[in-house]
Amino acid sequence: MMGETPNQCGCDGHGHGAMAATRERSFIMIKPDGVQRGLVGEIIKRFEQKGFKLVALKFVWPTEDLLKKHYADLSDKPFFPALVKYMASGPVVPMVWEGLNVVKTGRVMLGATNPADSAPGTIRGDLCIQMGRNICHGSDSVESAKKEIGLWFTEKEVVAWSPANDCWVYED
Ligand code: RTP
Ligand code: MG
Repeated sequence: MMGETPNQCGCDGHGHGAMAATRERSFIMIKPDGVQRGLVGEIIKRFEQKGFKLVALKFVWPTEDLLKKHYADLSDKPFFPALVKYMASGPVVPMVWEGLNVVKTGRVMLGATNPADSAPGTIRGDLCIQMGRNICHGSDSVESAKKEIGLWFTEKEVVAWSPANDCWVYED
C-alpha cells in the first residue's frame, strides 16, 4: 500500500512551482533558419530538459508587420530591413516558457547574439555560425517578454497547468 504521502519528496503533489518567481515568463522563438534546418526539436528539448515549463507554442509564417512590431526597438539600426526580411522568410515557432529566472537563464542558454562569440554548450554556440542566421530569439527582459507574448499570443493561448515533475525541479 502507498503511504498517505503520494510523492517521495513529501509533498501532496500540489503547489510546487506555485511561488510567483517560478511563474516568470520568456518569449522564445525558433527563427526561420532553425525551422528550415530541422532544429525545432533540439531547441525545444533544451528548454524542456532544463526544467522550464512550456505554456504556449505555435507554428506560423509571420507577417512583416508583426515582425516590425516585435523588433521595433531596432527599427533605426542599419540591419533592420535585412532582419525583418530574414525573419519573414519562412515559418517560425513562437513559444512561451515559464520558470524561475527563465528570461535571464534563457538568454544564457541561447548564447551571445553573434554565434562567433557564443560559448560551446549554448544553442547558438553549438548550432549556428553567423549573426544573421542565429536560429533562435529570446526576450531580453521581463518587460520585453510581456510585450512580445502579447504580440504573438492571445491570453487564451497561454495555458495554465502543473507539470507532474515540479516536485523534482523546485524544492519549494
Ligand atoms: P534576438 O532579439 O533575436 O533574441 O537577438 P539578441 O537579443 O541577441 O540581439 P538583438 O540586438 O535584439 O538583435 C536582434 C537580431 O538582429 C540580428 N542582428 N544583426 N548585423 C548586425 O549587426 C546585427 N545585430 C543584430 C540578429 O539576428 C539578432 O539576433
Ligand atoms: Mg533581442
